[in-house]
This record gives sequence, structure tokens and C-alpha cells, in this order.
Amino acid sequence: MSEKNLIVDKNKCVSCGLCVKDCVASALEFDENNKPSFGVNGENSCIKCQHCLAVCPVGAISILNKNPQDSEPIWSQNPDTILNLIKSRRSIRHYKPENIDEQTMHKLKNMLNWSPTGCNFHKLHFAFVEDKNVMDKIRTHVNTKLVKILSGKIVNAVTKKIAYYKDALINGEDIIFRGAPHMVVVSAPINSPCVNIDPVIALSYFELYAFSLGIGTCWCGFAQVCMQLFPELAQQMGIPDGYKVSYVMLFGIPDIHYQRTTQPEPFEMITVNDFNTAAKVSLTKRIKHFFVNGIR
Ligand SMILES: Cc1cc2nc3c(=O)[nH]c(=O)nc-3n(C[C@H](O)[C@H](O)[C@H](O)COP(=O)(O)O)c2cc1C
Repeated sequence: MSEKNLIVDKNKCVSCGLCVKDCVASALEFDENNKPSFGVNGENSCIKCQHCLAVCPVGAISILNKNPQDSEPIWSQNPDTILNLIKSRRSIRHYKPENIDEQTMHKLKNMLNWSPTGCNFHKLHFAFVEDKNVMDKIRTHVNTKLVKILSGKIVNAVTKKIAYYKDALINGEDIIFRGAPHMVVVSAPINSPCVNIDPVIALSYFELYAFSLGIGTCWCGFAQVCMQLFPELAQQMGIPDGYKVSYVMLFGIPDIHYQRTTQPEPFEMITVNDFNTAAKVSLTKRIKHFFVNGIR
């Protein structure tokens, strides 16, 4: 049996060609019977996106041992509901001191499998802290270490701004993990085509779906820095070798409720109305683009 295992139900297939047309890798072509099959090298170029299975109007295509009948039907969504969800989501910094229920945890984890990845690389790694007691150990470990670091003479000499954080930590304020009972750390293989982007997309999906389930989340830049500062965290969270820790998201049952949406300042948005194909870019601008914009 081949790895991709493309099986076309010849009795169902209506030879509409949608699977051939939609294959991003041009891996499919019609065979002598006008049915889809892998072309020369098609099996190697297939990126396992399953578009062929998803697009077939009669459910005639199975690939990667997936039965099309096990896929879910596609619903039409109410855009207003989705927009309201996006507008209502807030960063949650007050949590109930309890674990979320197993079923909800399972739903959240399972949803992540549908997160898109560049070239369908699909090798993200998610490390979940599912038990508040474990989270409390991590919290205590990190906060204790940070107090020590922030109390150091050199650190104090460099910046006085950290006094607030130091005092807060000494006073037992969990300014890093915000009292959250759970967190998820996302990593991607360093050779992923989109190593810095895929994890962020996954967490964006995660926070919106979590919110729809009544679960609060908070992107945690502080925790991400701690993952880099304290290698024992990555080690004990089971981050595989060769993976880059991307980001951390806290989550749990919110202990705060918002009554209305916020009213953010608009981002800068422009409309590009034309494109001059003959325009030249000066050398200075090229250098600036490479060293300034490029690096960013
Ligand atoms: C990449 C990123 C990192 C963040 N890191 C932290 C953090 O370490 N601690 C925290 O309390 N909030 C953190 N936040 C939350 C932001 O402060 C928050 O999104 C912003 O204030 C707007 O509030 P809202 O998310 O409720 O709309 C982070 C948000 C993002 C997008």
C-alpha cells in the first residue's frame, strides 16, 4: 500500500475534474478511463492537504486512508456572529482557580489539528499544562527565579523600570502567568517553511474557539521570554529537539466578564490603486530596504 493511498471509487466518480483542478501540487491527472490518479511523480509532490477528498461532489475520493464519509458537512456561517466573537474576545487576566473540564480541554486540543501550516508542513508541537497543580509548580519555579534575577545588582543598575515587576513578584502577584490554571506552549520544527507564522495562526484559532466555549485566554509574551531564559522549562514541557518554542497562551475559566466590546483606534490601512512597472528603486532605498525593512 502506498503512503498516500489514493483510492477513487470509480462507480461514484463523475469525472468532473474538480480534484485535478484544485490540486495545489498538480499531483493528479485523469487516467485512460477519465478518472483521477497520481501522475508521474504525483505521489511525491502531494502535500497531503486532502483538497481532493474535500472538493469531490460525490465523496468518491479517499486519500491517506481517510473515508470521505467521516468528514463533516460544511455549514454556512453567520458573519455577524463571527464578527461579534472577534470583537468581544479579550485578554483574560483573572481566572477561576480550577481546571477546565476534560471535554472542553479535548475540544480545544482537537480543534488545533485544523490549523493551517505553510506548505501543509503540519508538524506543530503543543505542550499543554492541563492540571492547575502543575501550573502552580511552574508558576512558583519561574516567579522565584525571576525575583532572584530582578534583585541582582547588575539588573538594578541597568534599569530602574523593573522595580515595579520585582515588587509585584515579591508581593506574590502572578504578573507572568496571571493566575491561569492552564497554558499551552506551541513549537515548530526549525526547518518548517513558516516556523514563525504557523504557531501564531494556531494560537489565534485557539483563542477564538476557546472564547466561543466560555474559556478565556491570554497571549503571554512574558512566559515566552521565560521559556527562553530558563531552559529547564522547555525541557520539562517536553519540547522536542530541533523545535523552536514560538509562543505561550494562558487559558482557563474567566473570573471576569465584559459587558461590551472595545473601540480600538483604527490601524493604518491604505489602498494600492496602481502599480508602475517601470519605477526604479534608488540604491539608498534598496540598502535601507535590505537592512532595515528586511531585518524587521
Ligand atoms: C503577542 C502578544 C503578547 C502578549 N503578551 C502579554 C503578556 O505577556 N501579558 C499580558 O498580560 N498580556 C499580554 N498580551 C495581551 C495584550 O496586552 C492585549 O492583547 C492588549 O492589551 C489588548 O487587549 P485585548 O487582547 O483584551 O483586546 C499579549 C498580546 C499579544 C498579541
